[in-house]
Amino acid sequence: MRITMIGSGYVGLVSGACFSDFGHDVICVDKDAGKIEALEAGRMPIYEPGLEQLVAANVAAGRLTFSTDLAASVAGTDAVFIAVGTPSRRGDGHADLSYVFAATEEIAAAATGPTVVVTKSTVPVGTGDRVEAILREKRPDLDMPVVSNPEFLREGAAIGDFKRPDRIVIGTDDERARGVMRAVYRPLYLGESPIVFTGRRTSELIKYAANAFLATKITFINEIADLCEAVGADVKDVSRGIGLDNRIGKKFLHAGPGYGGSCFPKDTLALLKTAEDFETPMQIVEAVVKVNDSRKRAMGRKVLHALGDDAKGKTVALLGLTFKPNTDDMRDAPSIAIAQALDDAGVAVRAYDPEGMAAAKALMPALTYCRDAYEAATGADAVVIVTEWDAFRALDFARLKGVMAAPVMVDLRNVYARDGVEGAGFSYTAVGR
Ligand code: UDX
Repeated sequence: MRITMIGSGYVGLVSGACFSDFGHDVICVDKDAGKIEALEAGRMPIYEPGLEQLVAANVAAGRLTFSTDLAASVAGTDAVFIAVGTPSRRGDGHADLSYVFAATEEIAAAATGPTVVVTKSTVPVGTGDRVEAILREKRPDLDMPVVSNPEFLREGAAIGDFKRPDRIVIGTDDERARGVMRAVYRPLYLGESPIVFTGRRTSELIKYAANAFLATKITFINEIADLCEAVGADVKDVSRGIGLDNRIGKKFLHAGPGYGGSCFPKDTLALLKTAEDFETPMQIVEAVVKVNDSRKRAMGRKVLHALGDDAKGKTVALLGLTFKPNTDDMRDAPSIAIAQALDDAGVAVRAYDPEGMAAAKALMPALTYCRDAYEAATGADAVVIVTEWDAFRALDFARLKGVMAAPVMVDLRNVYARDGVEGAGFSYTAVGR
């Protein structure tokens, strides 16, 4: 099959590389000439484990190419995937669909045959209808069915998630489009990933419902963690104790500093907007958004508390700045609110992250950036684990204590066991334990 991927960001690039790895001929298109040039030279615009090798192998095999020329890339292709960004619109939180519609117009202008158009970007319910209306209006001569096919991959685990998904969701009532999508995904579902065929609007909603539910699960356990601290219980054991019930499930029950990233914050807000528009308010999701926002700042207060009464003038080392490990993505990372709260209280911040330093420096130029955890901890009155990178899972406590001004650890990801840290002479604050 010939596949055109419009947008070579996280979702587009990973999906394009994986489709080509399954034997399809894929062209990844992007307007950003610098990005396409870098990709052609084998340089990845994002940090994602395994991506560089996957791209290199498929480029070498001649199945994966890059281009800035949308029109030439769309001509004669079997399926065009729209994988452009849908950021929160400034001001009102609605998803900004201008890139989706601009891509649609260009596809309409360039199509030479009845290609299937697939929205892989996360788009609000009804977007597929609007995309189809544009195509019908501009190209009444061509039958171009529009399919919703949301992507559920996680940053840092994107290739594995794409290749071995829990499910593939395909939203269309068009039989020919279903056939094309079956052929596109055949290599995956032969590996036993079930396909959920459904209507287009339902498929669009599935993506938002999944992300909102996961955000709710995290926020729920975070509130339970606060209660654990108040009553003297252990949230890790609560998570295990409830998660072993198959109806609840073990995943996404790790208490922490609140969720961040490119999806949960944006998609929960967009879902609330849709709900508002259709006059069916979603009070649970509203509460989740509110609780998660205030939690990030509260984590800053938790650190201040660990520093003692007189925090002003002290120094804190933040370990991990990205919203989760194995990514360089800083979008809505809890570290931003925490660093701000510390700065507001007159605390100096030294910081280190294995991959996120460039993005962090652009967002928070006033912090002192260090080469590793130990340099960050040098002279610090507390070390705070904000993101659970592997590099912070086996810190040398003696070395750390040796360079710090005071042996205080705040572990916002519950990486360590209390006994081990306290045994090494640290005062230890965790989350919900
Ligand atoms: C998420 C969805 O998982 C994915 O299906 C969707 O396609 C995009 O959004 P991603 O944002 O890459 O993926 O990361 P994810 O692993 O889901 O983590 C999101 C946030 O939740 C991170 O800040 C993470 O630290 C936090 N989290 C996750 C918790 O605090 N506790 C958990 O138990 C799980």
